[in-house]
Order: sequence, then C-alpha cells, then structure tokens
Amino acid sequence: MQPSSSTADFTQLGPWADMPAAQQPDWRDHAAYHAACQRLASAPPLVTASEIRRLRWSLSRLMTTGALLLQLGDCAESFYECAPRHISEKLRVIDELGDRFSELTGQSVIRVGRMGGQFAKPRSQETERHGTLIMPSFRGHMINSDIATPATRKPDPRRMLWAYDASEKVQRAMQTHRRGNGRTATMEGPWSSHEALVIDYESRLIRRDPDTDDLFLTSTHLPWVGERTRRPADAHVALLSSVMNPVGCKIGPTANPDEILRVCEALDPRREPGRLVLIPRMGRDRIQEVLPPIVRCVANAGHPVVWLSDPMHGNTVTSRLGLKTRHLTDVITEALRFRDILEENGQHAAGLHLEVAADDVTECIGGSVENEDELQRHYTSLCDPRLNVDQAGELIEAWAKGTAPGS
Ligand code: PEP
Ligand code: CO
Repeated sequence: MQPSSSTADFTQLGPWADMPAAQQPDWRDHAAYHAACQRLASAPPLVTASEIRRLRWSLSRLMTTGALLLQLGDCAESFYECAPRHISEKLRVIDELGDRFSELTGQSVIRVGRMGGQFAKPRSQETERHGTLIMPSFRGHMINSDIATPATRKPDPRRMLWAYDASEKVQRAMQTHRRGNGRTATMEGPWSSHEALVIDYESRLIRRDPDTDDLFLTSTHLPWVGERTRRPADAHVALLSSVMNPVGCKIGPTANPDEILRVCEALDPRREPGRLVLIPRMGRDRIQEVLPPIVRCVANAGHPVVWLSDPMHGNTVTSRLGLKTRHLTDVITEALRFRDILEENGQHAAGLHLEVAADDVTECIGGSVENEDELQRHYTSLCDPRLNVDQAGELIEAWAKGTAPGS
C-alpha cells in the first residue's frame, strides 16, 4: 500500500478539517508545522491494510466463539522506552498476561498493546502544579516534553515526526513478535492500538488501499476515540468513521444512551461485527446505573459491538501525598460488575482494557503495594497510575473466577 497523491488531498480536505476538535495542540504558527505535516503525508504506512483486516475479522468472530480480548500497556508511551529491550519487556508482559487469561478462562485471547503510537494524552486541566510552580500540562511525547519548564512544555510539531519514528521501531518489533505467536491458534497478536487524538498526525497517515479503494488509518491497527473527544459531530469521530480499521470508543460515567447511539451510528452505520469496540470506564459505583440502559439500547439498535471493560479510568483518586492512584479492589469490582451487566443483558463481555507497566511499579494500591506510603517507592508513570504485572494477574484471576479475591 503506497501513499498516493489523492491521499494527501483527501487528508487536507477530510470532512473533519472544519469540525470542532477538542484537545488539539496549538502549534500551527510553529516554523516547522507545515514541513512536519507534509513529511507525514508522504511517509510509509506503519501498519498494513491486510493486518488491519485480519484484526477486524478476528474481532468479528469474538461474539460467536466466546473468545476474549486483552488490551494493555502504558497510559502514555515514552520516547525513551522504545529501545529493543523495553519493547521486548512489554511484549513479554502482554504474552504472559494473555496466556494467563487464556489458561484461566479456557478461551483464546486476542492481544492488543497500548503501544506503537500511544504518545498523545487528553488532559482535563490545562496546567499542573510542580512544587510551587504552575506549568502547562504534559500532553504526551507527541506534543510536549515530560520535563516541566515553560519552554519544554510548549507544543512542538516536530514531535509528530519523532513519534512516527518511535512508532516505527515498536511496530517492526511487534510484527516480528506476531510471526512467532502466530504459530499457536490461541495466541493472536499482539496488535497495536492508541488513542487517535492529534488530528494533524492521524489524518496524514490515512492511506487508500489501491486493491479495494478503501481508506485505512495506517498509524495503528486499533485506534480509539477518548472520553473527552467522542462527540458524534466532532472531528475525531468523523476521522475514524472514514477508515476501515476496527475502532474503539471510551464511554464515561456521564454518558447517556442517546448520545452513545449517535456515536454508534457514526462509527458503525452498517452494523458490522468486528468494527466497533465500546469501552465503558465509568467507575465502580456509576457503572451499575449508567451502563445497563446503554447496553440495551445499543443491542436493540442492532450494533454488534465488542464490549470491553476499562476498569481503571473511572477509579482514579489522589493520595494524601498528591499522587494519582487506583485501588485494585475498585478496579476488580468495576470489571466484575461490567461482566455481570453484560451477561444479564445477554451480551458477550469480551475482556479488559488496562494500564499495565512492564516493570514492577508501585502506582496502584493492592497486592504487594499495601498502602499509600508505598506509592513513592517506584512511581514512574508519565501520566496515569498503572497496575504492575502481579496486580494485573490478580484482576485477570478475579475475572476468570467471577469473584473478587478472598470472597
Ligand atoms: C486513557 O486511556 O489513557 C484515557 C485518557 O482514557 P479516557 O479517554 O477514557 O479518559
Ligand atoms: Co490513562
């Protein structure tokens, strides 16, 4: 699949160009902006149309086969963790947890990494506090630096090119790894995924498949639209609705059925199995009230969606010392409630979307991290608190048993 001249025109003139787009970096006046966009528009695809079709096909079979999906990785991927040793650690963790999920449930598990492009973060606050200083928020390495000075926090469009290069390294390693896993029927993946947040970047990596004339987003296999950017009439949904990839959509605690139906209609107008992955992230308590009517409406409207639980983003709290954290007990409770709600409504609970670190971090409370005082021991996340592998293993075990540990 090669970039064609019509691709560049299309991405300039994509229907989303004039639509509202939340969470975009203010960098159009930067001297490097146009050159960066141009280079992306003629860059080779990072993933292929045939890989994307393969993942869509696998997702379309989930509902009938009862297979599961496990999507996991960093909240914010780092430019400094794309060397071979970092990538192989992350892939090892995906394999280990995917195998565990498969063994405990007796189902095959499609594995998807939050990696190979997860470099841009939506933020609720424009600024963040560092000691006595107030700085612009960190927005992911595709946009600005994690180093907190006014200069390094300025959005820099050249970062889109660095994100492309970093993604390429990760994607190549994932491709090699998939070839090894492909020898086993129950070990599909790992495929790549990230939040399609920066419209300047994503729109320039859309390519037309000359064999079918279809458009594909070639920055990743499974892009998703976040809770803050999923408005049906906005640019992010329009961009994802124009491509053939399977697409995800987060659903937060304030969502209502009408709004989600409009998102489904935009992203899955033809009601195709394997196209749309809906990812509730409502919080341990809110999920009980908010999710059931949404599940029923989506099912009644005939959208054959893959339902995935993100039990992390609705359960974030701030510890006494000011660190963001999550309690594993809350995470497990939300995941089990999700499963029950889906099953009570006759739908397949397809699995989990998690933030998990490859090394032994102390960012969430639970298991070996007994209390808030232990959080500082090894807290390295660039953004949200991640589970360590043991904590993720406990969650997967609870899902498989259908009960929380100790109950
Ligand atoms: C995330 O997945 O890191 C994220 C920001 O999610 P959400 O859009 O659900 O808040
Ligand atoms: Co996050």
